[in-house]
Amino acid sequence: MPSEPGGEQRGRQGGLNIRSLLEQYQGRNYDLHGSHVNPSNVRTLKTIGFDRCYVRAEGPYLWDAEGKKYLDMLAGYGVFAFGRNHPQIRRVLTEFLELDYPSLVKLEAPLLSGLLAQELKKRVLNDLEMVFFTNSGAEGVETAIKYAKCATGRPAIVHCEKAFHGLTYGALSLNGDESFREGFAPFLPDCRRIPYNDLEALERELSSKDVAAFVVEPVQGKGVNLPAAGYLCEAARLCRKHGALFVADEVQTGLGRTGRFLAIEHGGSVEPDIVVIAKSLSGGYVPVGAVLCKKWIHEKVFSSMQRSVVHSSTFSQGSLAMVAGLAALDLLEREQLTARAEMMGNKLGEGLRAMVPRFEFLKEVRWRGLMIGIEFGPPKSLALKTAWGLMHRLDKSLFPQAALIPLLDEHHILTQVAGHHIDVIKLLPPLIINDEDVAWFLTAFEQVLTQLHKFPGPAWDVVTRIGKLALTKRAR
Ligand SMILES: Cc1ncc(COP(=O)(O)O)c(C=O)c1O
Repeated sequence: MPSEPGGEQRGRQGGLNIRSLLEQYQGRNYDLHGSHVNPSNVRTLKTIGFDRCYVRAEGPYLWDAEGKKYLDMLAGYGVFAFGRNHPQIRRVLTEFLELDYPSLVKLEAPLLSGLLAQELKKRVLNDLEMVFFTNSGAEGVETAIKYAKCATGRPAIVHCEKAFHGLTYGALSLNGDESFREGFAPFLPDCRRIPYNDLEALERELSSKDVAAFVVEPVQGKGVNLPAAGYLCEAARLCRKHGALFVADEVQTGLGRTGRFLAIEHGGSVEPDIVVIAKSLSGGYVPVGAVLCKKWIHEKVFSSMQRSVVHSSTFSQGSLAMVAGLAALDLLEREQLTARAEMMGNKLGEGLRAMVPRFEFLKEVRWRGLMIGIEFGPPKSLALKTAWGLMHRLDKSLFPQAALIPLLDEHHILTQVAGHHIDVIKLLPPLIINDEDVAWFLTAFEQVLTQLHKFPGPAWDVVTRIGKLALTKRAR
């Protein structure tokens, strides 16, 4: 091992030669992570056979070190809405790097963040007039919590069961899934959990008049749970009636993913007080997010010159992030990707839904644009019931793996489970996928389902082994 990174093969200018460094260490990903980053994640990936080494990425595709091509239906948890390494965004970024333009001067008002804020505002409804830039989705949620408390002077935040808003402390305090919270208590006080789609429960909480905000995902990422008709609109109205803010966490759903710029646009005239976005805002090149809010809220937080940076962060408004954001918004519009998300989502969703009557394990397919949930459920026939019961006794999160593993192994498609202890697979593909990609997925999924409906059979061997392994580890 060289004493300095890439030290053996320096670039022409004497600096790091990144190409050589990557070549030198190719295939060592899991050793490095096992030693330095996250050994238990390495064990998990190895157990389910997801320990691949990807070396190239373009659009919705990845290639591993052996040259195998994969269809990426996960898109970095939704970050790569434009596909990976989009040439337009890269061109803008490289042109910008050539300019030696300043970034993060801090004691100035940067032109680029002003421009990106202006562009974002053109694309959202109503009076979301002020924009704060973040480096992640969770940071946006923290911002919303702080703004809501400061603007209303109230202590409580209402959130939903199964909600996911990120893993920093404020965001984790609004998390509706114990698997993420275990070991990290105590959380923020006055965070109250209600069922999603339950307006009565919301009004009960709001009527205590101490609620600063209701924070909600327009489509819940964990489980891909859709809002009931009129739910978001009425929830926002109830918030207004009781003096609380309605915060739409659009980190996953925003920027065209669901077939609208913001997913709240599906729900009629939903009037949010704060909207949080992130994920695909930079096309995956640079971390960036944004919080849009009404002016009066902003004025309460930044109420004087002394408080003009009362909420901020060192890397907020970095030039590269802002440029990537401008390029990404331009691309979204130029290539009409929002409409494309709706169209391709319908093709995938309808193709999958047509399989439901033919496969006992398939319970429901639901979607908004290219945010798709495929839910499995208990079958009717005896042999399959045995398989279902066995899987769930071994581990409550195991069943979807029986589909995910062959999808990757045999069909080279990367997908994810939509949460802990649920039988839902989530698809969040890049918005640029085409008809061939849709056919690739539908054909593969049908074959995987056909195999799964043969029990006992080889499709079950791998997951049964994994389940037994998990059981033995828990027993230790
Ligand atoms: C709805 C929602 N909010 C917030 C977050 C947190 O974003 P980040 O992981 O960038 O902190 C996520 C991440 O998946 C999300 O889906």
